[in-house]
Amino acid sequence: MCGIIARIGDGDGVAELLDALANLEYRGYDSAGIAVKGSGACRPTIAKREGEIANLRAILGDGVSGSIGIGHTRWSTHGAPSDANAHPHADCTGEVAVVHNGIIENYETLRTELESRGHAFESETDTEVVPHLVEEYREAGYGAEASFRHAIADLEGSYAIAMIVEGEDEIYATRSGSPLVLGIDAGRYYLASDVPAFLEFTDEVVYLEDGQVVVVREDGFEVSDVDGNALQPTVETVEWDAEDAGKGRYNHYMLKEINEQPEALRQTLNGRVDLENERVELEEFPEGAFEGVDEVHFVACGTSYHAAVYARQLFHDRGIPAQAFFASEYATINPPLGENTLTVAVTQSGETADTLSALRRAAGKGGRTLAVTNVVGSTAAREADDALFIRAGPEIGVAATKTFSSQVVSLAMLAERMAEDRGAEPRADAARYLQALSDLPDAIEQVLGDTSAERVASAYADSLSHFFIGRGTGHAVALEGALKFKEITYEHAEAFAAGELKHGPLALVTSETPVFAVLSGDYDEKTYGNMEEVKSRGAPVIALTDAPESVSRVTDDVITMPETHEDLKSLLANVQLQLLSYHAASLRGRAIDKPRNLAKSVTVE
Ligand code: F6R
Repeated sequence: MCGIIARIGDGDGVAELLDALANLEYRGYDSAGIAVKGSGACRPTIAKREGEIANLRAILGDGVSGSIGIGHTRWSTHGAPSDANAHPHADCTGEVAVVHNGIIENYETLRTELESRGHAFESETDTEVVPHLVEEYREAGYGAEASFRHAIADLEGSYAIAMIVEGEDEIYATRSGSPLVLGIDAGRYYLASDVPAFLEFTDEVVYLEDGQVVVVREDGFEVSDVDGNALQPTVETVEWDAEDAGKGRYNHYMLKEINEQPEALRQTLNGRVDLENERVELEEFPEGAFEGVDEVHFVACGTSYHAAVYARQLFHDRGIPAQAFFASEYATINPPLGENTLTVAVTQSGETADTLSALRRAAGKGGRTLAVTNVVGSTAAREADDALFIRAGPEIGVAATKTFSSQVVSLAMLAERMAEDRGAEPRADAARYLQALSDLPDAIEQVLGDTSAERVASAYADSLSHFFIGRGTGHAVALEGALKFKEITYEHAEAFAAGELKHGPLALVTSETPVFAVLSGDYDEKTYGNMEEVKSRGAPVIALTDAPESVSRVTDDVITMPETHEDLKSLLANVQLQLLSYHAASLRGRAIDKPRNLAKSVTVE
């Protein structure tokens, strides 16, 4: 998830571009850049730097000015954070400058073709193919707009792109699967990934749709469809004020990030699931990369540990021995590392001290290591032998939400790739499973449209404690549900493997302790029995299931989920539990985005 901005109109644009980038920093902050030009024959001047926007500001001199410009704040997906990989990117002549948010899936093919025709590339990004494609079409005699249209027709994947060109007093932009909005001010126009970028300048906006192309001039704009037919877009007025803008229409980053899960997962999955050949393709790993691996040790903390517990089952299902360790216990437990053990550090930030320490311990014993992380330039990504990026985009709320989903899905894909390299038989249900993985963003969208969690949060608001139970992946999500609940509501919550209730915890169960049962499809019949056990002791039972009719006799309430593959059911339940915790915390007036005593990244052991 990166942020893009463009502006054209009265006055110099540099200060506005920088302000807009600062407003978009929540979408990414590992590098930033702008390209600006004056009207007439001017060529774009590009300035870009790795790191925060302050680094970019520091290199801007008098030579960088102009009323027409584009800008970008980056969250790396292809290529580490560096000056060269920062946007904007240019063609060989320096006449074309482009910024992009999204992932161009076929960039390797396009790049190889362009290189074979003499184009030299300066970065490792997928984006750089775009200005070079435009360059070729311009050389073939097309104008700037026609070249832009031809170039985007060559792209596969998701993108929002803005471009400026020497000699053209226009900005060209389009979107497909990544957001893009036009802002209209007196004498100035803006284009951005999100309204907060320019909300301090204007609240009049046009939300562009996939496939639309917009050409913006100093005195107006035209929106057209992919074939060039003119469209009449609706201009809307945004109601929020600039202070709340980063959160958009949400009261908290946590709720925003819960709602971003479909977009985050689309990025996680983008280009990685090959439905035609019924396999997973991870560009980070060549064929055979996991051939020798005979065991996996997951090391992780908190929510990331729960993602590892979830993944452990997916690895087992594919015949891969796997264990999940609290990273802080890895040294104490001191598990023997076989010659072919792969230690996988699961860490959103890539900076958690406990996880880094476990990773270093494995590496110190000569073990092979892999980081599964959200942050491309993080310590874990740099120190591990390999890295798999979950591509969820920045997460600001202290409570992890969208990154859990992206971690589980990344690990699910890793299990498939590893099984293939280890010579496992393809899954009998490969087509159905991979389709369900691809459809997961849509299924989560359905969950997000359901208000049951809010209703249930309010119905049980006065409870003494909240318990969460499940089996298999349902247990992983019960653990995560309880962590989220206690973390942001400050109320007691606890999770149990459903079968363990009767071995002690049942003593805690009363009419004041609602029990949430995550029905993952793994031995549900046995879980029904456990639900009976608590119900007969007076506890309210709330089931999370896609089959409400089968549980009606043992439940007081049901949160119904859309149907999906058995291995993914618990992920949908987890989104409902995130909403449950959010609404329960909201009812209690808690500091949801910054719960007391907690930090987003825990850098001490
Ligand atoms: C809980 C939460 C934490 C983190 C944990 C590990 O909502 O966010 O439990 O999951 O501190 O952090 P990372 O994944 O950055 O290693």
